[in-house]
Amino acid sequence: AFVTTGEMLKKAQEGGYAIGAFNAENLEMVQAIIAAAEAENAPVMIQTTPGTLKYAGPKCFAGIVSRMARDVKVPVALHLDHGNSYELAEECAREGYTSLMIDGSKLPYEENIALTRRVVAMACGLPVEAELGTVGGKEDGMEAKPQYTDPDEAADFVNRTGISSFAVAIGTAHGVYKGEPKLDLDRLSAVREKVSIPLVLHGTSGVPEDQVRECIRRGICKVNYATDLRIAFTAGVKKAIGEQPEAFDPKKYLAEGRKAVQSRVQELIRLLGSSGKA
Ligand code: 13P
Ligand code: ZN
Ligand code: NA
Repeated sequence: AFVTTGEMLKKAQEGGYAIGAFNAENLEMVQAIIAAAEAENAPVMIQTTPGTLKYAGPKCFAGIVSRMARDVKVPVALHLDHGNSYELAEECAREGYTSLMIDGSKLPYEENIALTRRVVAMACGLPVEAELGTVGGKEDGMEAKPQYTDPDEAADFVNRTGISSFAVAIGTAHGVYKGEPKLDLDRLSAVREKVSIPLVLHGTSGVPEDQVRECIRRGICKVNYATDLRIAFTAGVKKAIGEQPEAFDPKKYLAEGRKAVQSRVQELIRLLGSSGKA
């Protein structure tokens, strides 16, 4: 079923587990994520960054995901990840995305609030995620110096914007970590005390499993994975081409990438506790 995210996040919050939000880059990754969700009987979110939407636009992803989601029982949502302009958020809403993120975290505080408020108003009830503080590393080439979320500011931000979920900055980073990430778990708990809407963890590829579980225990109910799936897909394709260097049919070697992504997504769904929650 093609759904919005309000209900699945609310259930996850009440049930003490998290929804996997998986970044897709192409048809095969969409197929893999939906197949994994079906195999695990789990609700999922598929998300695309602005960079991915430059490769293939919102029309393309909304068309593929909405059509495929209608043919399965499990809830599947389509989310704009790190939306970087009002215009892109509007275009995604128009094309059928069921959830939006507007990321004004690099703007001065009041400008972030103003932009987020405009997107919430435009979205007419579609759930909107926003972020305060910054997740480290690169998301589509935007290098950010990490600045952790302040719990009091978070409460003010959520009240003044009317967003439906909130991305915390507690020491995770996009991409591959050099060494083990040090997460500020007490800060996460402090944000949880002040903010009642669903909390989102970004940059989760590379975070050790016990730390992911601890974040969920402390109130995270949406967990984002991008890099892990890009790595799995590429490894699958490389393996296929390595084994058959004379291969020239894309559907054959891309199928190996798809298989690798499906198996990684199934593992992650189990880690997040959303297996069987559809
Ligand atoms: P990773 O690439 O570290 O998994 O981060 C994903 C993310 O936060 C997408 O918004
Ligand atoms: Zn992110
Ligand atoms: Na990461």
